[in-house]
Amino acid sequence: MEPKTPSLALTLIACLLLLPLFSHARILTNSPSSTPASRVAFLQHLKGCHKGDKLNDIPKLKAYLHKFGYLDDYTNQTSPSNNHYFDGRLENALKTYQANYHLNVTGAMDSATVASMMTPRCGVADIVNGTNYMQTRRRHGTGRLHAVSHYSFFRGNPRWRASKTKLSYQILPGMPEEAVAPVARAFQTWAENTQFEFRRDDHAELADIKIGFFSGYHGDTGSFDGPGGSLAHSSPPKSGLLHFDSEETWAVGSVQKAFDVETVALHEIGHILGLMHSSVPTAIMYPAVGDGVTKELSRDDVHGFRALYKV
Ligand SMILES: *[C@@H]1O[C@H](CO)[C@@H](O)[C@H](O)[C@H]1NC(C)=O
Ligand SMILES: *[C@@H]1O[C@H](CO)[C@@H](O)[C@H](O)[C@H]1NC(C)=O
Ligand SMILES: *[C@@H]1O[C@H](CO)[C@@H](O)[C@H](O)[C@H]1NC(C)=O
Ligand SMILES: [Zn+2]
Ligand SMILES: [Zn+2]
Repeated sequence: MEPKTPSLALTLIACLLLLPLFSHARILTNSPSSTPASRVAFLQHLKGCHKGDKLNDIPKLKAYLHKFGYLDDYTNQTSPSNNHYFDGRLENALKTYQANYHLNVTGAMDSATVASMMTPRCGVADIVNGTNYMQTRRRHGTGRLHAVSHYSFFRGNPRWRASKTKLSYQILPGMPEEAVAPVARAFQTWAENTQFEFRRDDHAELADIKIGFFSGYHGDTGSFDGPGGSLAHSSPPKSGLLHFDSEETWAVGSVQKAFDVETVALHEIGHILGLMHSSVPTAIMYPAVGDGVTKELSRDDVHGFRALYKV
């Protein structure tokens, strides 16, 4: 009867180790339905499909790839029945997606591709007007000390002017009170790594950054899609919009099946400052973030910022 004691002891140790994590992390907003069906659940039905297949969920896959910039137009007006057809254009779009996300470039919906697409992500597209922001590579340093970075900027490198280092942000009505502190911490992290200072000012008519929780269509081009799919979006300098999808389950810290407000805010503030998506999975500017994941700024993000602002 020896084995029972060690396993009990191990369980106790495991509990003690995990306790601080759980006592700190907590759910902040619940999704309206207790077990929300992800808006991208249809992807599971497409596992294994490839060029030549004709399936009812293919138009949704095309819409997904269109939304994030991989497919220009996806409806075939002349022959609507072809919308269900896995054609060569879809295969090419999928290959580009797979290259961006470090998957095997098969052009088919293998299980790793399905899992990647089901991971919630930023609503800002990866490809805009033909520019694939996740395929930029910059060398910095010299000789054997050089490193390759994968950060990118919006087209035309928009940024705040050099004299504008103090940015005010406004918390819009309807944002859960408990989301304010994690957002403030995300601003603080960027402030510690850049020349910027951020100050909350809810009364400013002209706050530089306006932050709120919204659902579905809310007046801009990036309609939210309910649980899963896109989590948040924001705009390049100097328009300063930062919106969270209020239908997600949000949390402070690492909570399974919930998204850490601070991690997502760090990413979206990166856009506000002028950074676009990075293909480095550890970078905060990587578009996807799983539930329960917390991240910090990486070297890729800081290098990107310094290159954009030449500091
Ligand atoms: C639409 O369908 C027609 C008829 O099959 C086909 O000839 C055409 O290439 C399709 N267009 C696109 C954009 O897929
Ligand atoms: C890519 O394919 C190889 C060989 O089939 C496999 O071992 C590996 O797990 C695949 N990688 C991904 C990310 O699917
Ligand atoms: C895309 O290109 C068109 C035409 O060149 C331009 O009018 C539009 O502003 C561009 N959009 C973005 C988001 O860069
Ligand atoms: Zn993004
Ligand atoms: Zn919005």
